[in-house]
This record gives sequence, C-alpha cells and structure tokens, in this order.
Amino acid sequence: MRKKTLVQFILLGILTYSCSSDASLNKSNFETKALSTKTINNPMQDKGIGPITSVKINTEINKDLAIHGKTLFETNCIACHKLDKRFIGPAITGITKRRSPEWIMNMVLNPEQMVKENQLAKQLLMEYMSPMANQNLTENEARAVLEYFIEIDN
Ligand code: HEC
Repeated sequence: MRKKTLVQFILLGILTYSCSSDASLNKSNFETKALSTKTINNPMQDKGIGPITSVKINTEINKDLAIHGKTLFETNCIACHKLDKRFIGPAITGITKRRSPEWIMNMVLNPEQMVKENQLAKQLLMEYMSPMANQNLTENEARAVLEYFIEIDN
C-alpha cells in the first residue's frame, strides 16, 4: 500500500515537472521569435538614422530625376556597387523592396553613423568588412539616386 502511494507520488512529480518545463520552453521560443521579428524580419519599417525622416514616393516615376540619379550613381557609387552582383558593397537590384526609402537615403547621406548605430547597417558592415564611403551627396541628389533605384526595381 505504501509502495503504491510512492509510485503515484513519483508519477505526479514527473507529470508536474514535464508540464512546467514545457511551459517555459514555449515561453522562451515565443520571446526569441518576437525579438527576431523586430530586428531582422521587418526591415521595411526601419527608417535608419540621419537627416531623412520621411520621403514621399509618387506612383509615377519622375524620369528626369531618375536620369539624374543614374548619372550620380555612375559617378559616385559604381566603384563599389554593381547592380546585379555583390561587389565591394551589396548588389543594388531589389534594394527598394528590402529597405525603406528613408533608410536608403540615410545610408547614402549618413553611412558613418548608420554602420555604428543601425542594426541592419551594422550587420552589412560585418558581412562586407569594408565601410560604405560617404560621397557627400546633397539630400536632393540622394533623392535622385533613390528615384533611379525605384526605376530599376519596377
Ligand atoms: C567605397 C565603397 C563604396 C562606395 C563608393 C559606395 N558604397 Fe554603398 N556600400 C558599400 C559597402 C561596403 C556597403 C555595405 C555596408 C558597409 O559595409 O558599410 C554599402 C551599402 C550600401 C547600401 C545598403 C545596401 C543594402 O543591401 O542594404 C546602399 C543603399 C548603398 N550602399 C548605396 C550607395 C550609393 C547610392 C552610393 C553612391 C552615392 C554608394 N553606396 C557608394 C560600399 C560603398
């Protein structure tokens, strides 16, 4: 009789233990997921750090602006960026689908602070091991380059 009670007691203990450890496992899975959603899975929400807080994008491409942007790109950026392939820096094609317009312009205008303080840019610096150079573009010039990138991606 006493032996049976002991067995029951042990079984109850195992059951309680497995339930509670299950619960804590689920909780930590949930937290890991929430964290990665915030920092990695949602780059389009990230505006980056710099002078640009909001960019207005028209549905129609501004052709003149895009042509100006292409010239600026070929003068200032092509030494490190190719459109379709990784080079010193990342390939440009698809950039407007993976980064917000504000982030792109802040990366062009303020790369030094971006690679120090913005999570996405920090990860890129770790991957490419070479810092993105500030080409001292004006905000209007950076906007023209962005228009060119939008044209490429459409
Ligand atoms: C000296 C080389 C160099 C030049 C010049 C340069 N870049 Fe970069 N760029 C990089 C590197 C390297 C990275 C990756 C981040 C890092 O390592 O700092 C990068 C990252 C970027 C990114 C982010 C790419 C992504 O996948 O998120 C954009 C956008 C960008 N550059 C645009 C430009 C534009 C526009 C110009 C010209 C005005 C330019 N870059 C000039 C080297 C350069």
